[in-house]
Amino acid sequence: MINQDKFKKLDEINEKAILGGGSEKIQKQHDNGKLSARERIEILIDKGSFQELGRFVKHRSVDFGLDKNIPLGDGVVTGYGTVNGRLIYVFSQDFTIFGGSLAEAHAEKIVKIMDMAMKNGAPVIGLNDSGGARIQEGVVSLGGYADIFYRNTLASGVVPQISAIMGPCAGGAVYSPAITDFNIMVEGSSYMFVTGPNVVKTVTHEEVTSEELGGASAHSTKSGVAHFTAVNDVDAIEQIKKLLSYIPQNCEETAPVVDYNRNNDEINVELNSIVPENPNQPYDIKDVICRVIDKETFFEVHKNYAENIVVGFARLAGKSIGVVANQPMSLAGVLDIESSKKGARFVRFCDAFNIPLLVLEDVPGFLPGTDQEWRGIITNGAKLLYAFSEATVPRITVITRKAYGGAYDVMNSKHIGADLNFAWPTAEIAVMGAKGAAEIIFKKEISEAADSSKKLSEKELEYNEMFANPYIASARGYVDEVIKPQDTRNRLIKGFKMLENKVEKLPKKKHGNIPL
Ligand code: HXC
Repeated sequence: MINQDKFKKLDEINEKAILGGGSEKIQKQHDNGKLSARERIEILIDKGSFQELGRFVKHRSVDFGLDKNIPLGDGVVTGYGTVNGRLIYVFSQDFTIFGGSLAEAHAEKIVKIMDMAMKNGAPVIGLNDSGGARIQEGVVSLGGYADIFYRNTLASGVVPQISAIMGPCAGGAVYSPAITDFNIMVEGSSYMFVTGPNVVKTVTHEEVTSEELGGASAHSTKSGVAHFTAVNDVDAIEQIKKLLSYIPQNCEETAPVVDYNRNNDEINVELNSIVPENPNQPYDIKDVICRVIDKETFFEVHKNYAENIVVGFARLAGKSIGVVANQPMSLAGVLDIESSKKGARFVRFCDAFNIPLLVLEDVPGFLPGTDQEWRGIITNGAKLLYAFSEATVPRITVITRKAYGGAYDVMNSKHIGADLNFAWPTAEIAVMGAKGAAEIIFKKEISEAADSSKKLSEKELEYNEMFANPYIASARGYVDEVIKPQDTRNRLIKGFKMLENKVEKLPKKKHGNIPL
């Protein structure tokens, strides 16, 4: 029989550890609108499933008085559990202990669960709330960060990695979330930057607040660092759970399949009237997306960033798909640097984790201008081309309207490996718009005409009649079928079903060299 005192001692240590930095500091978290590290885990993980690892871990530092301040757990709660019955690994930084700062022992705990996640094939969720490298530990903290960055890189494409930023995340600390697949930032209480407002002021003389520089709004609209924003901690965690429901556990598996209502499979005549008569008039591609996928299953990624391309997860006949769609409502759906990068990153995630891709195409081309050229639309546009070209998951494209120039090739054309390409009768597939084309190929005729603008209109019409349709591409087999919009969902369900067991291998290589 074990002596009861030993149990009592264990209970006492556990109680102490669970309190982290103490009730007062937990209250301060609450006063700042934040939950504690353990409360966050409780909301994330299925009730009773959390198994903590390393609760009694202590730091081994002695400098700057740390030998007299040795809290249990070292400022991070780590372990595993289930979310909707599926295994995940989690670390949750505890701001009540040394401001959640990362040091040797703290990093070792995170590394331990990352290694387990890779070996056992399950996602890693990081709940970040930290003052950065623990200043008292110096280079040892930096080493700890690098140990994590290294594993973030090794785990990339092996298991999904999701970061929630729920407090400060500054300096080099930002590079762990940066490597993970998705970042969710909480509005008002989180920020991320490489250098904070004080350094910015010293170096560039700009006056900027933390929120302006690296808050959820800045990163979800301007930089694209944040894929999602949340109104509070609970919302952020709910979004993580939703995201997990669309993705598999690891690169060897496929995403969970859910039941769906087969009544949705009927034709949708509303699709027939979404594309306006006037080819220059915009329409909302999300009106198309929501009518072809299973009802209310669209989970948009990067909603407020590079809005000229829409990306997100959805379900089709109960199965997860990734949707990439040009958005005519924003910059006429043109491809530019930001939208190419956004699209490419999403395509690569889907391909890495066996999520089939649906592309809805209405693209007038690449955005012209010195700004785009000098900032590298060539290299950045190539990212999207490269991402689609190397994707081996089932890929289907539907051309709803414009498919012009290089953008036609880039947007998952048959030529770069798409499995099935459909076009609506409203599709215009050509090298360039009719006006530009007529001006070049009929230049002489137009300039010599008595009424050159009338001549231009005639030639524009002639070019339009010849090319602004899907029939030349379908005669070549570049388009597999011209379909009525109302039949799109039906074709997609059949198409993805047919492609279910697709196997495609890329040429043997160490790794490709995507234009970065
Ligand atoms: C040790 C830290 C800490 C840190 C905060 N604390 N950050 N302890 N190392 N990096 C401690 C504080 O001393 C305090 O301890 C407690 O955490 C809460 O901090 P407060 O300042 O009271 O909280 P708040 O006012 O909310 O401010 C939070 C903060 C601020 C903005 C994060 O603490 C701050 O600026 N910290 C320093 C940030 C920083 O410069 N980090 C290094 C970045 S460089 P007590 O005992 O008083 O409660 C970096 C390099 C990584 O991270 C490189 C990787 C390659």
